[in-house]
Amino acid sequence: MRLDPYQIRKDFPMYVNHESKFAGKGLVYLDNSATTFKPFSVIEASDHYYMDITANTRRGDYSLANAADQAFDEARRVVAKFINAKTPEEVIFTSGDTQGLNEVAYGMIPLLHKGDEIILSQSEHASNVLPWFEVAKLTGAEIKYVMLDEKGKVTPEGLRKVISDKTKVVSLASVSNVMGYVIDVKELVKIAHEYHAIYIDDAAQSIAHMKTDVQDSDVDIMVFSGHKMLGPTGIGVLYGKMEVLEKLHPLLYGGEMNARFNSDGYLSLDDVPYRFEAGTQNVAGVLGLAAACQYLENIGFDAISSHERELRKLAIEGLKRNGNAIIYNEDADTGIITFNIKNVFPQDVATYLSHKGVFVRSGTHCAKILPEFLHVDGTVRASLYLYNTKEDIMAFVKACATAEDYLDAFFD
Ligand code: ALA
Repeated sequence: MRLDPYQIRKDFPMYVNHESKFAGKGLVYLDNSATTFKPFSVIEASDHYYMDITANTRRGDYSLANAADQAFDEARRVVAKFINAKTPEEVIFTSGDTQGLNEVAYGMIPLLHKGDEIILSQSEHASNVLPWFEVAKLTGAEIKYVMLDEKGKVTPEGLRKVISDKTKVVSLASVSNVMGYVIDVKELVKIAHEYHAIYIDDAAQSIAHMKTDVQDSDVDIMVFSGHKMLGPTGIGVLYGKMEVLEKLHPLLYGGEMNARFNSDGYLSLDDVPYRFEAGTQNVAGVLGLAAACQYLENIGFDAISSHERELRKLAIEGLKRNGNAIIYNEDADTGIITFNIKNVFPQDVATYLSHKGVFVRSGTHCAKILPEFLHVDGTVRASLYLYNTKEDIMAFVKACATAEDYLDAFFD
């Protein structure tokens, strides 16, 4: 049930090879919401494609291509099982969460009309806002926002206040990349379905940290990135219920997404998922992603989330003891801790912490509507994961205690 982060670190080259090199003070990496380190097994799975089975997929009638096809198909099955999709065909590979959300938003253009409503929240990441802005302009649909509650959470009550018979889409992050709250996806989906709206789950910040079961949550569509869940960069997933995917129009057109076309402009699309996978696929990324799913399943999400909660508690206690921090999401249930140090710009805090060997993110974290709610221009965010240790948290808290001395970072 408990995980041992010291043991886990042995699986990660970033720790095995580099721990003592960063700023000469160890490697206290607390920016896991931005991206995660990769275990050897993921790197080896991607390498296997380049080293042993390089051939294009779904095109070659020779044994080497068949080996690549088999590995690719098996990876799709692994990912489908990881999220409990009904069939592997409900899993579409993308370059990441951003492409997934663009595919969905643009894919819905023929289904959206003037006066239809698209519901987002005040805390969404740019990837779940900007494609909808564009699609709203093109279709005449309107964007509405779920207002956050006083703590900054998206709640079913908040959705009920804004949803209407005109709502066609509800698209929300299951965990905000800044506020870190886990939203009640099941309840929100039920509300969306009462109004016959399509529910889209942006799982970028939840997929690596908690068990995901798309049949249980009943989401119509879900997107996520591989690189935030120990997988390679440049690979992600767009999951959809088959009947929903069949209504979406592809965003990208090209090789292997069509069944046939001719000089008159006739085009017949290939089946789902292939109609959404135009061009040569990121096969190495797909194999690495499947290895990441297997790595996480072996550790287990109960162990991962209890580890994150334990470290979070230590960090919050430490920041409060320091007395110089404003914490914006004290009650959040994930490893995302968002704060400021009184009278210091967030970027100066991040630079100062880096000087102490502690790596965090600062700014708006791409969620640029959220400052309207928080009433600050930016924040500092520490985001934890399975390989973080109590020593990491102690180093973080200790560095924050003196962050008012941030000018030291520039003159040391
Ligand atoms: N979306 C990533 C983050 O929140 C990059 O940092």
